[in-house]
Amino acid sequence: MPKQRIDKIFSNLGLLSRSECSRAAKYGHIAVNGEVCKASDAKADPNVDVITYKGQQIDTRSLVYYMFNKPAGCITANEDKYSATIFDYIKDTRTNLSAVGRLDKDTTGILLITNDGDMNHKLLAPRYHVPKTYEALINGRLLESDIKFFERGVDIGDEKPTLPAKCKVLKENEDGTSLAELVIYEGRFHQVKRMFEAIGKPVIKLHRRNFGPLELDESLEEGKYRELTKEELEKIKNCFA
Ligand code: URA
Repeated sequence: MPKQRIDKIFSNLGLLSRSECSRAAKYGHIAVNGEVCKASDAKADPNVDVITYKGQQIDTRSLVYYMFNKPAGCITANEDKYSATIFDYIKDTRTNLSAVGRLDKDTTGILLITNDGDMNHKLLAPRYHVPKTYEALINGRLLESDIKFFERGVDIGDEKPTLPAKCKVLKENEDGTSLAELVIYEGRFHQVKRMFEAIGKPVIKLHRRNFGPLELDESLEEGKYRELTKEELEKIKNCFA
């Protein structure tokens, strides 16, 4: 890759705007291969040169893809006055990262986080019908008629009923609650909770196990994240092939 201006490198990575970069350079906060750059029009090759900001090497890969195991209690937002957000868990200083869709504050499980805006947009686009698999602890027993009801699409008070969804029982607990698996092909606001509300069996706990072709890595503890493997990335890109 040819050399690029360092202010372009920082702004493309979502780390610093051009004016912030110029200021940082003046303060001597930026170095290339150990040499302090005092001007933001200095050039570097992000694939070859070691670029540091305030002594820390910056990660010059432009697109990153993370799988996050969202814990309950944090909200899917960039910032919030009152609650922890998912970005309190992600130790990546890029400012252009976003979650792919959202999970409610009390929902746990797989959430993709990326700065690939194009992929993010496609994964959420209704026309691709990317499946999402949830495990819901519900109050009550799931009947065959409930499963059929979900298969036809459910009126949850929106303009249109939901797309047909697949549901099955995973476990029936002695206390009268049940663990159900629900696969939906859209991502409407509180969709899973509203679907179970529609059959009078409210969700007590909700966990997302799969997003499209990806399954939550069981070794990823709640609150932890990792990059997608090459294979996972390929699989997710194949959703739109
Ligand atoms: N549906 C919900 O009701 N909540 C979520 O967090 C995700 C899907």
